[in-house]
Amino acid sequence: MNKGTILVTGGTGYIGSHTVVELQAAGYEVVIIDNLSNSNENVLDGIEKISGIRPAFIKGDCCDMTILRTLFQAFPGIKGIINFAASKAVGESMEKPVLYYRNNLNTLMNLLDCMAEFGVKGIVFSSSCTVYGEPDENPVTEQAPIKKATSPYGNTKQISEEVITDVINAGAPFKSVILRYFNPVGAHPSAEIGELPNGVPQNLIPYITQTAIGIRKELSVFGNDYPTPDGSCIRDFINVVDLAKAHVKAMDRMLEVPESPKIEIFNLGTGNGVSVLELINTFESATGVKVPYKIVGRRAGDIEKVWGNPSHANEVLGWKADTPLADTMRSAWAWQCKLRERGIM
Ligand code: WQD
Repeated sequence: MNKGTILVTGGTGYIGSHTVVELQAAGYEVVIIDNLSNSNENVLDGIEKISGIRPAFIKGDCCDMTILRTLFQAFPGIKGIINFAASKAVGESMEKPVLYYRNNLNTLMNLLDCMAEFGVKGIVFSSSCTVYGEPDENPVTEQAPIKKATSPYGNTKQISEEVITDVINAGAPFKSVILRYFNPVGAHPSAEIGELPNGVPQNLIPYITQTAIGIRKELSVFGNDYPTPDGSCIRDFINVVDLAKAHVKAMDRMLEVPESPKIEIFNLGTGNGVSVLELINTFESATGVKVPYKIVGRRAGDIEKVWGNPSHANEVLGWKADTPLADTMRSAWAWQCKLRERGIM
């Protein structure tokens, strides 16, 4: 059954593409807009191979209001938006703050204007546990204090949440669900879609898989002198498909539960803290592939330890991230092997 049309901005990206697949499985029609600044159009082939449905695709920048309005006129039935379109590299944001503020904030504000004009009912916003900074205690709940952002990237997430809140509190005729991700990892079990960073990976898992397959000589572990059991940082690594499914639950709730609050916030994590060294061990035991690594100095801006309390999402969304970490590591490795098979890297 057709549950209506959803616009997914940034839908050829890592989390976006996995969410498109889950939206289609749930019965939604999907329209993607993406400027392909950090993804490739052939991701649509992978989506189609998994779901059998090729989503409508518009190559375009959400900062361009003319492009956006033309899209909404072409697809008048759009009921909801999931907004992934944003620049998201912490380190790059330190070097190019204006690019990050312009891209991430203008995109959101254009979408909010279009929602009011075209009668869109809800927006799911892709936020991040980065807003908590170094939390006072773990696991982190949605009530944890928002700490001053340590990067322009993190600040754009905080400001975006405030913009959405102010617009809705001013009486906007739509709802929003804000999803604060912990660390998304892994790939679709089909190995047809996955994480494909441009250039040298900034994030841990793609660096691990590229080292395991021989693209990178060895992994640098940024510090083992933190006050944690094994000295390395601790994170909440959440399977990307589990994460994608939470977006569908959030959209269902906004569109099908009239009494749900106009704005809701959910932490999307597993509730388990795993250290960098534990993750490397999990990858090696799950795949049987060694990951050569060396311990180097700490990376500036790194949070020491952060993992989520997902009980609010578990209870309210009826959602749980329950994929075993070993399975997630195997999915990341299978994806890396598929890329090699296709001669992509
Ligand atoms: C994880 C841990 C590193 C690479 C960021 C953003 C977050 C989200 C995910 C977008 C840290 C260590 C990493 C490496 C390493 N971004 N590491 N060697 O920084 O927790 O989160 O990316 O949605 O909002 O803040 O993720 O994967 O970069 O690092 O030792 O080569 O792995 O020090 O402890 P991070 P990450």
